[in-house]
Amino acid sequence: MTLLNEVLTQDNTPQALIDVVACIANCCCQIAEQVGHGALGETLGATEAENVQGEVQKKLDIIANDLLVAALVAQGSVRTIASEEEEHARVATHGAPYIVAFDPLDGSSNIDVNGQIGTIFTVFNARDDVPDHSEEQFFQAGSKQICAGYVLYGPYTTLVISTGTAVHEFTLNKMRGEFYASKLAMVFHAGMREFSANMANLFYWPKKFQNHILGMIAPQSASTRFTMRWQGAMVGDVHRILTRGGLFIYPGDSRDIKQPAKLRLLYEAFPMALLIEAAGGCAYTEQGRILAASLNELHQRTPVILGDKTFVSECFTALSAAEKCIA
Ligand code: AHG
Ligand code: MN
Ligand code: MN
Repeated sequence: MTLLNEVLTQDNTPQALIDVVACIANCCCQIAEQVGHGALGETLGATEAENVQGEVQKKLDIIANDLLVAALVAQGSVRTIASEEEEHARVATHGAPYIVAFDPLDGSSNIDVNGQIGTIFTVFNARDDVPDHSEEQFFQAGSKQICAGYVLYGPYTTLVISTGTAVHEFTLNKMRGEFYASKLAMVFHAGMREFSANMANLFYWPKKFQNHILGMIAPQSASTRFTMRWQGAMVGDVHRILTRGGLFIYPGDSRDIKQPAKLRLLYEAFPMALLIEAAGGCAYTEQGRILAASLNELHQRTPVILGDKTFVSECFTALSAAEKCIA
């Protein structure tokens, strides 16, 4: 059984980056433990607060955020931190080599129903051309990520990570507090006709895209018709797709002109795009490849279509051909 740091060493990951990953993994062990207490712990339910995105913060959003921030501030190799739960970037260690962004608790609405939840993270090299405290530290292209990963707190706890080339899956041994390799060099399974989408949003999508999705589920031969799974937590939906194949879609919609998409580019779309592409899938917005996009606002949102190359490209064609949601 191979440990996380051994696999990363075999991938020629620099020791300082392995140490940052170990710090995040250790926090996630603690989050997994808190999650596991359920109603017998202090973690369920909402707080009185809202985050910068106007979402009510759950207790576990704050617990996970505070654990990660405190550990990464103390770790020493992280210059700047950004979190879904914090409006601004904050300095951890001046002059340190890396910057880290995370969604401390993805799928918050699943916390109180014992559904899938997770933590998503990404690491870039710090920039010397902007101040350490500036959110511009994160204004980089997705292709500049040097590490991306997530931890899924499901019936068992899974870490999936890539430091640029291969994608590996690890499983938490809760007794030892260590992640052991469970799938090395994951390879995307092409041809799985399964998709994840919040279909309740269908009527707010561009008409040609609606028609494309309806065509996937219209009565037809069992071998070509798609089935659907939706966890409501990107971390769970993307993990299933990375494991079995399929398609994840969260397009922009026409309800809110100022905010046509939901998912966040920096700490949701970027890391998932890196992992899916490294395994052999692809990840697009309606404008093009997610990893080719650059961040220009810390909590910027983006449409996401990722997974099977063929099915993504069919969606991408339907979306690009569609009249824009905002006329
Ligand atoms: P978060 O809990 O971090 O705010 O993220 C929730 C996101 C994402 O995980 C999921 O795919 C999506 O929101 C679910 O959206 P709907 O509520 O529209 O289904
Ligand atoms: Mn999220
Ligand atoms: Mn979150």
